Amino acid sequence: MAAEQNSIHGLWRNRWLFILAATGSAVGLGNIWKFPYITGENGGGAFVLVYLFCICLIGLPVMLAEVMLGRMGRQSPINTMTAIAKDAGANRLWSGIGWMGAVAGFLILSFYSVIAGWALAYIFRMAGGMFEGASAEVASTTFGNLVGNPEVLLAWHTIFMVITIAVVARGVNQGLEKAIRILMPMLFVLLFLLLGYALSSDGFSQGFSFLFSFDFSKLTGESIVVALGHAFFTLSLGLGAIMAYGAYMPSDVSIGKTVVLVGILDTLVALAAGLAIFPIVFANGMEPGAGPGLLFQTLPIAFGQMPAGTLFGTLFFVLITFAAWSSSISLAEPIVAWAVESKGMSRAHAATWVGVAAWVLGIGTVLSFNLWSDYKVFDKTLFDLLDFLTTNILLPLGGLFIALFVGWVMHKSDVAAEVRMSNPTLYKAWMIVLKFIAPVAVAVVLINGLL
Ligand code: TRP
Repeated sequence: MAAEQNSIHGLWRNRWLFILAATGSAVGLGNIWKFPYITGENGGGAFVLVYLFCICLIGLPVMLAEVMLGRMGRQSPINTMTAIAKDAGANRLWSGIGWMGAVAGFLILSFYSVIAGWALAYIFRMAGGMFEGASAEVASTTFGNLVGNPEVLLAWHTIFMVITIAVVARGVNQGLEKAIRILMPMLFVLLFLLLGYALSSDGFSQGFSFLFSFDFSKLTGESIVVALGHAFFTLSLGLGAIMAYGAYMPSDVSIGKTVVLVGILDTLVALAAGLAIFPIVFANGMEPGAGPGLLFQTLPIAFGQMPAGTLFGTLFFVLITFAAWSSSISLAEPIVAWAVESKGMSRAHAATWVGVAAWVLGIGTVLSFNLWSDYKVFDKTLFDLLDFLTTNILLPLGGLFIALFVGWVMHKSDVAAEVRMSNPTLYKAWMIVLKFIAPVAVAVVLINGLL
């Protein structure tokens, strides 16, 4: 197809910057905050296995498809999908993939910023030495006091949204790229330090077997939906974030190898986070199913007891904030890029509007942890509902349509020319996954799990 070689938003300067940016998008609250707590809520090992299965069998192939679409279109996901659908002579409705993704990104950004605000708040609680020698009880009271206070949550949510928008407003090279080059390497170093601590703790073997012993009796239809949804969430798939990043990828880079590397890094970080957190949970007699507060109630205890814990604890929450930051920018990028292309807005203008709107919606999430915590629909608070709707429904649906579009609608010669896979067997396998396996698996899981 008539792809341009460039994007008006700029290009990543080299292959590594794409890898760092995509990994920065993928590694975030999903890995460090969400993966441990949903694993806890869904019974541990068996859930992890299903999740890994979803990553390999569905996540990576869909990611490959998304990056490929992005690089071919070289525009925001909405305009990329519109252009490629037109070139393929397909129905214009396919551009709906871009629209649905933009909406999902906006919804996720609204609650993501609130949770990232917790991490931001914990930097200061840690640095102030609040957890030195703290018991499990002190840790959970401290967490309860934070989320119980809407004004404080709102303040941190506001700060996080401002820093996110500040990066997106500066564009791909001056904003995204600069931030990512500093944030990502630091994240890896700290995670390894923390993992070292967990390895030496009393609860390690119990934590390890919780994560890796497979008890299938604990799996329910809903937990399979959650595992699938999380595979999309953690790889940043199904809403066009990775498609937008793919649009800025230099043309000579191998998409396949790059995608696999990002998937491996993302999975390692999630498993490392689980291995760092569950030993502390068990060593302190806490509940693995504690829910969204798990990370914030366990890690402070460990830091409170380790030598120089205040320092490491502070750094660790700085890094969670960084991880969240390099992810949140990718949630805003698809809509901002679209507004720049199609509404003639400046980047700064577009980013500000998206930020303000997501900030307002985020207030609902803030209140769902305190004043509105009793308002429930289907037994879920507003935060739970937004999370469930986006992660477990919209992202898998986005992935399903992307797989169908690339597998069935596009001209095969265009696809092959863009991905340029050197191994024909792998290419065939990828096509089979996109045509049959991913769509059927996602459809079956969604239908079963939701009904
Ligand atoms: N992957 C990120 C995380 O694990 C969240 C995220 C960023 C995301 N961009 C996304 C999720 C796009 C879905 C789609 O925290």
